Amino acid sequence: MCLDQEMTMNMNSIRPLTDPSRPKVYIETYGCQMNVNDSEVILSILQDAGYALTESIEDADVILANTCSIRDNAEQRIWGRIDQFRIQKRNRNGVVIGIVGCMAERLKDKLLEKVDLVAGPDSYRSLPELLKAITPESPQMNVLLSHEETYADIAPVRLDKNGVSAFISIMRGCNNVCSYCVVPYTRGRERSRDPQTIVNEARILFENGYKEVTLLGQNVDSYAWESPEGNMNFPQLLEAVALISPELRVRFSTSHPKDISDEVIYTMAKYDNICKHIHLPVQSGSSIMLEKMRRKYNREWYLERVGKIRSVIPDCGLTTDVIAGFSGETEQDHQDTLSLMEEVVFDSAFMFAYSERPGTLASKKYPDDIPYEEKTRRLNEIIALQGRMSLKSNEKEVGKVMKVLVEGPSKKNPDELCGRASSNKMCVFPSRGEKAGDYCQVKVESVTSATLICSRID
Ligand code: SAH
Ligand code: SF4
Ligand code: F3S
Repeated sequence: MCLDQEMTMNMNSIRPLTDPSRPKVYIETYGCQMNVNDSEVILSILQDAGYALTESIEDADVILANTCSIRDNAEQRIWGRIDQFRIQKRNRNGVVIGIVGCMAERLKDKLLEKVDLVAGPDSYRSLPELLKAITPESPQMNVLLSHEETYADIAPVRLDKNGVSAFISIMRGCNNVCSYCVVPYTRGRERSRDPQTIVNEARILFENGYKEVTLLGQNVDSYAWESPEGNMNFPQLLEAVALISPELRVRFSTSHPKDISDEVIYTMAKYDNICKHIHLPVQSGSSIMLEKMRRKYNREWYLERVGKIRSVIPDCGLTTDVIAGFSGETEQDHQDTLSLMEEVVFDSAFMFAYSERPGTLASKKYPDDIPYEEKTRRLNEIIALQGRMSLKSNEKEVGKVMKVLVEGPSKKNPDELCGRASSNKMCVFPSRGEKAGDYCQVKVESVTSATLICSRID
């Protein structure tokens, strides 16, 4: 099945271990791809400590939710799940409920009234001890943030279903203080992971049949490894991973408009197997809003970066994130966002209504003063415009030939396959019996706003 890979709720997609004598752990993951990767790290740690994994909440001795705090509705959803977990606990003796991840880090002991375990993103190595120490009277918590932890030595248990695409965290935390954003508080200071361990992980994945790796970080462009043996920046890391094999596709996310360098763009252009797609969150088309958001670039800077990308890589896929209704956003600021979207023609976008997060700079300095109805109206306009832009962007592809990595059968028609082009656009095309992980050459015949409908040319 082809699912959106950016923002997932990856429920119980765990490869089960069968040993019935081990205590069983069940995990649900919310939020970004980094959280999905963290769940893989958590499972690896717990597996080494003697736990078996289960896909069924009813079988679980330990029920975990790896959580997200990015917007209020993300947290509300988790509160609802906690109530459902507590029903499991009431019905079965000895069940332990744990909240890990960003919401654990943000709310800390406020969660302890409802659950037995609270563990922040840098404390996963201590999970086995914390679990052992839990009693009905003493729930356990570790929310210490670290300057060093990258889990570099831990081989994640892969949660992806098809064994084709995997995610590799190359750094943790974030040093930007975008005024609306909770991530610096939930994930701590930015730190980069030893490049040797990243390249090894990618190589092992390739040797095990994987065909695509996505290098993950909140701001991959600021990846920086310093050691006596030598330093490495992001484009150098990208190159080192691309050199593993021309058959291994390399993707990365997320790029920050203030930091994406010409060197990254030229490195992408140099290697066929570095996918021609950049996720470049703009947030707003208004320089006034961008200043208030502390994004450290303005509209002109963003458009210049897009121009540079397109001059070096004309077919580069470009996607973005947009926030509607940030503090003080005027109708003119909103129109600036719409006009930027029309100018750039993004392939797709994640679009959000501004949600004030306690503790952030914006929550202290700027009132959340755009009424709910107005935010929703603006967001709906943004979504409608993006629908038209996605179609426009896809229409440009008609007649082009593309190399697609097969993900599996298409959802609608089992005689067709789906997979992504280098640009990250989803293609659907007739099957000739290929399986997930094979490459196919296709030609775009027609399009919708979400899909390229292709014929075979191989
Ligand atoms: N590190 C990435 C984004 C991580 S969060 C970057 O800097 O681009 C993913 C997206 O969530 C952000 O790009 C932003 O569009 C959105 N977001 C973050 N905080 C938000 C908030 N308080 N309200 C609404 N959307 C928010
Ligand atoms: Fe949040 Fe900004 Fe860091 Fe992205 S770069 S995670 S939006 S603070
Ligand atoms: Fe990711 Fe949500 Fe945390 S987006 S970094 S899980 S707040």
